[in-house]
Amino acid sequence: MSKARKFVITRLFKGEPKVSDFKLDSEDIPVLQDGQILCEAEFISVDPYQRAYTEGHGVGRTMIGSQVARIVESRADGYPAGRYVVGAWGWRDRTVVDVANADKDFLLPILVPDLGGLPLSLSLGVLGMPGATAYFGLLDICDPKPGEVVVVSGAAGAVGSIAGQIARIKGCRVIGIAGSDVKVKWVKEDLGFDQAFNYKTVNLDKALKEVAPDGVDVYFDNVGGEQSSAVIANMRHRGRIAVCGCISVYNESQVAVAPVIQMHVVSRELRMEGFVVARWSGRWDEAFRELGPWIREGRLKYRETVTDGFVNTPQAFIGMLRGENLGKAVVKV
Ligand SMILES: NC(=O)c1ccc[n+]([C@@H]2O[C@H](COP(=O)([O-])OP(=O)(O)OC[C@H]3O[C@@H](n4cnc5c(N)ncnc54)[C@H](OP(=O)(O)O)[C@@H]3O)[C@@H](O)[C@H]2O)c1
Repeated sequence: MSKARKFVITRLFKGEPKVSDFKLDSEDIPVLQDGQILCEAEFISVDPYQRAYTEGHGVGRTMIGSQVARIVESRADGYPAGRYVVGAWGWRDRTVVDVANADKDFLLPILVPDLGGLPLSLSLGVLGMPGATAYFGLLDICDPKPGEVVVVSGAAGAVGSIAGQIARIKGCRVIGIAGSDVKVKWVKEDLGFDQAFNYKTVNLDKALKEVAPDGVDVYFDNVGGEQSSAVIANMRHRGRIAVCGCISVYNESQVAVAPVIQMHVVSRELRMEGFVVARWSGRWDEAFRELGPWIREGRLKYRETVTDGFVNTPQAFIGMLRGENLGKAVVKV
């Protein structure tokens, strides 16, 4: 009987996760039954939600996460061997998926369409969940208009780098915020952001007042905390804020304190809306139908930070949380 490798949690995370919080384990792969497929992971995705969604964590449980995998054996209609699928089966290299009984919204494998020569790993990035997040979070919630000023935090990451470029394609003036000079240079020089700032070295309030003296119309918030308070304090009347995530606090065990924003929200009549990308789960294809051609036309650029080897998945995850990634962080199994 062949084996599957998986990472299980040995200790619940306290602060930043550690390599020693995980253990590489294995299990037997059962003989395939009717309605099942056997998948071999090609790329594992490491994402911030894997730190934030602590309800999915447990000692002895397989670490949560999604992957793009090849179907190597199939006894399920519509899922032929050789096709690639995206599934949320956690950090494991081989998985038997009961397609017939899979939960429709979560565990059901999504067949990867023909990517027209683009890399398979993009189905975990710009042509996957992060791309859909950037697209719907920006366009559906903020409805940016040409000429408006859009600020994106986490600007050099998987979601932020795409959200900022979509805003630019829509004719907005885009300001990015990221955590290193290399990232700032990348989003300005390669991705075409109009301005970008390193939040670790720049006073954001001051910087925004200089580059956007009339205020910010749209804020796509990936990080929360003090950075977001600074942006919100610089919004224009009737500005829109899409709250995508708050990675600045995911490793915190105590509630973080940031400057109060309510006075700005009230006096400038701001609209602030949180979202989860699953809201548009039936419509992700709409996003990919626009994002794909933009990539091929060279209007939308992507970058991946690829860690080699399944055994290095914990390091890739920790590195992503530390900000070591440019663009989407993935593990090549
Ligand atoms: N709502 C949804 O449905 C949805 C879906 C996907 C993702 N998200 C959220 O979107 C955000 C970005 O996700 P992603 O997948 O694109 O990850 P990512 O930006 O590719 O990677 C995480 C980045 O977070 C930044 N970071 C780490 N600690 C930080 C801190 N203390 N303050 C500010 N930034 C920090 C790092 O960049 P720096 O070097 O710039 O610090 C790091 O590279 C996350 O908050 C995530 O939870 C939400």
